Amino acid sequence: MRIEKTDVLVIGSGIAGLLLARKAARFADVAIVTKKEGSASNTYYAQGGIAAVANDEDSFELHISDTIEAGQGLCHPEAVEIMVREGPARIRELAELGVRFNRDESSGSFRLGREGGHSASRIVHFHDVIGRELEEVLLDEVGKSPNVSFLDEHLAIDLVGGSDGGVKGCYVLDRRRNEIAAYLARHTIIATGGAGKIYLYTSNPDVASGDGIAMAYRAGAEISNLEFVQFHPTSLYHQKVKSLLISEALRGEGAVLRTTAGDEFMSHYDDRRELAPRDIVARAMDSEMKKSGEKYVLLDITKKPADWLKDRFPFVYERCLEYGIDISREPIPVVPAAHYMCGGVRVDMEGKTNLPGLSVVGEAACSGVHGANRLASNSLLEAIVLSHRCSERLKDERGVEIVADLDTGDFPRTGDPKIFETVILDHDWDLTRRVMWDYVGIVRSEERLRLARERIGQIRETVERLYEEYGASVDMVELRNIALVSSLVVQSAIARKESRGLHYMIDYPERDPEWCKDSIIKIEED
Ligand code: SIN
Repeated sequence: MRIEKTDVLVIGSGIAGLLLARKAARFADVAIVTKKEGSASNTYYAQGGIAAVANDEDSFELHISDTIEAGQGLCHPEAVEIMVREGPARIRELAELGVRFNRDESSGSFRLGREGGHSASRIVHFHDVIGRELEEVLLDEVGKSPNVSFLDEHLAIDLVGGSDGGVKGCYVLDRRRNEIAAYLARHTIIATGGAGKIYLYTSNPDVASGDGIAMAYRAGAEISNLEFVQFHPTSLYHQKVKSLLISEALRGEGAVLRTTAGDEFMSHYDDRRELAPRDIVARAMDSEMKKSGEKYVLLDITKKPADWLKDRFPFVYERCLEYGIDISREPIPVVPAAHYMCGGVRVDMEGKTNLPGLSVVGEAACSGVHGANRLASNSLLEAIVLSHRCSERLKDERGVEIVADLDTGDFPRTGDPKIFETVILDHDWDLTRRVMWDYVGIVRSEERLRLARERIGQIRETVERLYEEYGASVDMVELRNIALVSSLVVQSAIARKESRGLHYMIDYPERDPEWCKDSIIKIEED
């Protein structure tokens, strides 16, 4: 059994993990494990940008109040304040590292986009490919640091727990060698991103199987607000496309949502129309699709000329064209898709969890800034602020002792994919995601949630038994994680007997002041 040691172990290579690793490498040895190639992360696909106050027409107070309004009573105001006020300094740092942002040619000031729920233009962006830009610059940066070892194709399986309840590192599967090693660390950082893959339709890439949330839960971390799953209103509806986000920034530039008959409909739902917060837009689309019986609605940006679209949205323009849609001439068929987990592992604004040795940053964390509904483009902002503050804390903390005598009997067993019937895993993978989509989606009911609990519960039992019997292969580990995270989402949704933000219950259509609090679950209560 192989055992490796490092000061700081970062699991995940999106913006939160890479930024933290880069900063921690100034005072510690850092290992980054990431389950595919370095750039395979939710960050890479981010189109919109980073929300931040960037000129005199805007103010911190406005950004704070927009965030809190979208969060519908559940944002932690002090956390929001930190995020909003510290954001601009973090963006300046990124620009100094070489991240490009679109700027006004004469003044050099940021060109700002507008997105739903924001009362000012405040999205700093790079065309519609900010995620790719961030990943490329940060991967290059960590690659230059002699203190960082970068382990791609390494899948985290479970955290190494100490007898004192602390976290001492992680068991990791090297996918190339099909071999498990323990990486022991003074500080273990989960930066694994979200869990969009628990749903049949998602804007997230395949890696988003909730690994960090699942591992943290199994280790005893508190998990908060998982019932608040954000569905992005506009992902492309197309037979051949698994997931293609159509950025909210298109609506910020005037794109109109229409029924398939061509009628705009958002004015019937909210005065802010297409720029209402995402929960409102997604529910309006859901309701229009149910009324018409159609599988999609249309997003129309044909009022903009092709040259303008090619410059502002080169990615969306080109990708749609590949699938035969010229967005300058015809509207885009769109449907909502699971996009972002507002809940996650409960942390403070320094990424600290209830478990010694374990920090969480990025989408896997629940720091209190998003409440019941995240404001568009506040996610990258939270990631950069939290990662910075977490690295500052680690600088001053010794962390947990590196374990001297790890019991090799505790190592997970390596699975041999050849001896296992993949058809069973594929079936349960599809079934979990279908159940979540049908019963735990944009509109929920007690009956649907009860059925989801029953079905996901059965899948979990089977998967845990198979995991014990056959060991840890990649498919098995990911299925085990999506089944667990799905069950946690269902458990949180059943507990919240009201409608608030992204959690809409037919049986309880109103907000209930009694429920103006975070949900918290821990393994003992399972
Ligand atoms: C988008 O470009 O619409 C996504 C931005 C976000 O999720 O904040």
